[in-house]
Amino acid sequence: MTDLLLTDAAEVVTYADHERFERTEDAAVAVDDGRVVAVGPTAAVTDDHPESDADAVVDCAGRAVVPGFVDPHTHALFAGDRSDEFEAKLRGQTYQEILEAGGGILRTVEAVRAASTDELVANLRDELDVMLAHGTTTAEVKSGYGLDAETELRMLDAIDRAAAEHPVRVVPTFMGAHAVPTGRDADDYVEEVVTEQIPAVAEQGVAAFCDVFCEEGVFDVAQSRRVLEAGIEHGLTPKVHAEELSHLGGTQLAAEVGAASADHLLHATDEDVDALVAADVTPVLLPGTAFGLGAAYADAEAFLDRGAPVALATDLNPNCYSQSMPFAMTLGCVEMGLTPAQALGAATANAARAVDRPDAGRLEPGSPADLAVLDAPSHVHLSYNFGVNPVDTVVVGGEVAHE
Ligand code: NIG
Ligand code: FE
Repeated sequence: MTDLLLTDAAEVVTYADHERFERTEDAAVAVDDGRVVAVGPTAAVTDDHPESDADAVVDCAGRAVVPGFVDPHTHALFAGDRSDEFEAKLRGQTYQEILEAGGGILRTVEAVRAASTDELVANLRDELDVMLAHGTTTAEVKSGYGLDAETELRMLDAIDRAAAEHPVRVVPTFMGAHAVPTGRDADDYVEEVVTEQIPAVAEQGVAAFCDVFCEEGVFDVAQSRRVLEAGIEHGLTPKVHAEELSHLGGTQLAAEVGAASADHLLHATDEDVDALVAADVTPVLLPGTAFGLGAAYADAEAFLDRGAPVALATDLNPNCYSQSMPFAMTLGCVEMGLTPAQALGAATANAARAVDRPDAGRLEPGSPADLAVLDAPSHVHLSYNFGVNPVDTVVVGGEVAHE
């Protein structure tokens, strides 16, 4: 028996990363027990897996099939509305001016602290629905709008609960060091993160990663290092928000502590790129953030030239309100010089590296059957057809999760 058979796709992309791209035309995918069991020309696949033996058949004529996207950097769990800050930024206020005036992250912190855990679960579910509809099948989600032990743990609990009832596969990250809480000294708060929050997060057992905002006016390199090393001691893999608004040294830190990823990298230097490559840290680029801030984009070509496995993410958060990986791919191509095939690789296999999920983001025999059927004949349309959703049907673990 076959649980699901997708037939006659104009193209099936089975694997894409920064250096390899594999696809088959007129192709089919057979799925059993949540995993891909065969992929290739329709005639060959249906010889072994006839339509008559399939529980469900999706006719993909004229449409492309690609691996489900992995969004490796999101702050998808939040409460409140910061659309007025979008207007303020259009009038010329900077992100840091807004943050220093008590807006930005600190405003979302107030809204999250005031929300019940049930409300937080519902908020995240709504965001995951939109992400899924745009082809995301695995998503990293950070805490970091609690900034105290109780609310950070509640956020992680909400992430866990939303994940349990949603088809999107969720990778939870603890980010207690996302901002210095109002009225607190940074060193004093880092002490709390290290001695109180991280042990409690480890005890709770939801988070897999520990992230820190290493940025001028937020956490310096020494403070960031303390947080990440405490995380490592408690089994949390490090990630770093590095060189987003200024050049501070977060990238070198990511390389030194063996982080899974260094993210943003708008101000990374050539030496930073070399350090990431040497330490096998995945660079995660978030072009939506630069787009929303009207800032210069990260230099993706500097990474690709050195053979780095560039990944793309949405950075979904109230400052960068996009759930769409295809939009990140469009920006990756138009603003950062990726080819549509590289952009897809950055959104699938390379993004999977950034969250330590090596079998996600590919459609090879044995891979989880997480995929998107496009409303278009090729993967190029993901980047080419911007401002609309090019994704039609989404399958997670062999089940149709969105259509
Ligand atoms: O990745 N840089 C810090 N964190 C987010 C912004 C979060 C917010 O503004 O609420 C980012 O850009
Ligand atoms: Fe972020």
